[in-house]
Order: sequence, then C-alpha cells, then structure tokens
Amino acid sequence: MKTLVVYSSRTGNTEKLARAIAGALGPDCTLSCAEDAPPPEKFDFIAFGFGVYRGWPDGELRSYMLRAKPRYAGIFLTLGAYPDSEHAQVCLARAEGMLPASKVLAKLACHGAYAPGMVERMKARPAGSAHGWDEERAVRVAAAAGHPDADDLSRAQQLFKAALAKAVPPPDDGKKALVAAWFGTAVDAAREAYDLAESQLPVKPLRAYTSRFVRRKLGGEVPSLPGALQRLYLDGVRHVKVLAGLLAAGEEYELLRSDLEAFRNPLTGFDSLSVTAPPLSTPERLRRFLDAVTAELPDAPVLFMGHGHADGRSDFQYDAAAAELAKYNPAWRLGCVEGGRSLDTLLPELKKAGVRRLELRPFLLVAGDHAVNDLAGAEPGSWKSQLEAAGIECTVELRGLAAYPAVARYFAEEVERLG
Ligand SMILES: Cc1cc2nc3c(=O)[nH]c(=O)nc-3n(C[C@H](O)[C@H](O)[C@H](O)COP(=O)(O)O)c2cc1C
Repeated sequence: MKTLVVYSSRTGNTEKLARAIAGALGPDCTLSCAEDAPPPEKFDFIAFGFGVYRGWPDGELRSYMLRAKPRYAGIFLTLGAYPDSEHAQVCLARAEGMLPASKVLAKLACHGAYAPGMVERMKARPAGSAHGWDEERAVRVAAAAGHPDADDLSRAQQLFKAALAKAVPPPDDGKKALVAAWFGTAVDAAREAYDLAESQLPVKPLRAYTSRFVRRKLGGEVPSLPGALQRLYLDGVRHVKVLAGLLAAGEEYELLRSDLEAFRNPLTGFDSLSVTAPPLSTPERLRRFLDAVTAELPDAPVLFMGHGHADGRSDFQYDAAAAELAKYNPAWRLGCVEGGRSLDTLLPELKKAGVRRLELRPFLLVAGDHAVNDLAGAEPGSWKSQLEAAGIECTVELRGLAAYPAVARYFAEEVERLG
C-alpha cells in the first residue's frame, strides 16, 4: 500500500500532526507539504492535513485534494475553534466533499494554537467587532494554546494506523480473470459444448450461468454472473473480461449487461470490466460466426432451430442470420422456437421447395432441453414429428453450436478482441 501524508501548515501546528501520522504509517510513507507533493496517482492512501483559515484549507492543498483521487483517504485538521464544535465538523465535511472518489477512512479535528501575532491582532480589534477580543475568545484561545500536544499526536497516530489497517491492499498488478457467462443447461451431456468452447479460450474462465432455473436445478454448483464477479473481486482480481455466451442481443444480453453495472462503480468496482457482443448483434460478427457454423455443414438441406423471442422482438436478428445463411447455401434454413420464424411459417416454404429430406440441427449454443424435446423429441409437437408428418424425412445432429470447433474459436477471437 503506497501512502502519502500531504499537508499545508502556515504556523507549524498541522505539520506536527503530519509528521507524527507519517511516522505511524511506517517507513515507506511519503511526507510532503502541498507545494512539493508528488503526483497523487502514485498513492493508494493519502492523508490530507491542513490548518483552517477562514473555514477552509489553503489554496495549494485545496487544488491538490481536488485533483487527487486515491482509493482511500484520511483528513486531519487543526483549528482555533473547539475540535468538537459544529465549525470543526463543517470544516471536515468540506474537505471530505473534495474527495468524492475516495473512501475516507479517518477524520480528525484537533485544536491548534493561534500564532502569537494573531492573538495580538485580535486583542487590538475593537471590542464587539467580528473577530475582536472578548472573554469567550480569550478562553478559547487559551484552550487552544499548546496544541497539538503529545496526546493529540498519539491520538492522531492511533486513528490513522487503524485507518490504514482498514484499507484493502491493491491486488498484484495485472491480476486478471475471464468469466464465461452461458445461459446454462441442466442436460448433462449438453454441457460438453461449454467445455469445448472454454478449452479454446485464451485463459481458463470461471463459468457462470445466467439462468436461475438451471442454477437451482444444479444445486448452486455454478454461480450466477454477479456471484462469479463477487468471487473474483474478493480474490483481489481487478481486471475482468466477460464472454457473453449468448447468440442474440436480446433481453438476456441486456440483463447480463445490467448485472455488470454494479461492478463498474468507481470506488468498489473493477478497474476494467469488458464484455463481448453477441454474434448476431452486428453484420461483421454475424458473417464471421456463420463462417464458423457453416464450416462443417453437409452440402444438403439443413434446418436449424434457434430460440427467438415470444413477442418477436429478436426476429430482426434471426431474419438477418437466416438471409445470410441462405447466401452460403439456399438449402440451409433457420427457424426459431419462439417469435416470427416458427415452423408453421417455414413449412409451406419447405414444401414449395420440394424438400424431401432434412438434417435438423439446433441453432443454440448447447443441445439442451429445446434441442432434445422441441426439435428432436418423439412428441407430436416436436419439429421432427411435424416435419415427418408432412412427409419430410429427418435426421438429427444434436450438437450445440458451441461444440463446433470453429465456433469455439470464434468465441476465443471475440475475447481476444476485447484487448
Ligand atoms: C488568519 C487566520 C485565520 C484563521 N481562521 C480560522 C477559522 O476560520 N476557524 C478556526 O477554527 N481557526 C482559524 N484560525 C486558527 C488556525 O486554524 C489554527 O491556528 C491552526 O492550528 C493553524 O494551523 P497551521 O499552524 O498548521 O497553519 C485562523 C488563524 C489565522 C491566523
């Protein structure tokens, strides 16, 4: 932990505290007056000290405080007013207000003797004037005399030592991690697709599932995305990349992005946190993704089943994907379980094209419940049953797209592109 004690002190009171505090923070602590202070970015913990002049720190320290954004800070001041007065609290609050990006771990107001010249000047003012001499002032000035004393110094040392102990040391530079955030599947065999995709990634990721249903079904064995990020944060990781294991930029992706927001807080968040965009979200990604998907397709009619969204809000992405796929081979088609590209809408087209034989494949990252039941199930409502009832002979390739080696490489490239 790199620590700095920086102060402004016209008559030496605050400087005494500053020296004592710096001594207590250890031999590596830097001590400097505001005029000569090193760049604040070098420090994790900065203790700012000042003598109060007309309610504020002087200009030099003030501008240093406004510039500095240490992760942790402490404030100490000396003043003529009583340290437990409202005035003292206001002065501390003003200083704290100058450090919005820092966690302030210690605040100390301490009596500071008025310089003898100042006392003489106050005595010379006419009685009744704003800072003139009267009995109350005489008592206050007498109380401040001799401060900061040995007790003040030792109190300040204890307070700042305890504050430093509360500051979490920064992680080793470059402590990074990757999270693979998949939707999840409760189908054991389907999980191999995730294993395969993850084996191609530049580093071994921490796996997270966004589906609460799947997480519950697996007994909490795989964390949620926030759970995974929290785990990494507590391990001291500060740079995180997230692979968004989703195909379309729909509701799931928005939820995933909102899960990340809490971890972007400038005080408590990661130093960097980036996330990949889904393959169907931009034309350039779509093309590279389809290059990967089509790399091993047979030169024969194929019908993919994607997911889609019930109210059709992701149709435009699947429509674009279907149009692009047909450019590779007009016999390769894409429908969805939900939304506008249902089997009902595709069947007439298949019949019109005279398709007699089809290979069915999930356009899903893993061959989970939708692939096993909605696509290939024996129930009359499955796509296979409906197509066969319509006279089209079907074979099924039950493999999630994440298990296609070229698709796994596509995801690895997306992670690498995050920089
Ligand atoms: C010109 C002047 C203005 C001051 N203004 C205040 C003030 O607004 N509030 C206060 O409590 N004390 C005030 N003081 C007292 C100083 O804050 C106190 O003596 C402090 O310990 C000085 O710190 P330093 O020796 O580190 O400069 C003032 C003193 C002087 C000389």
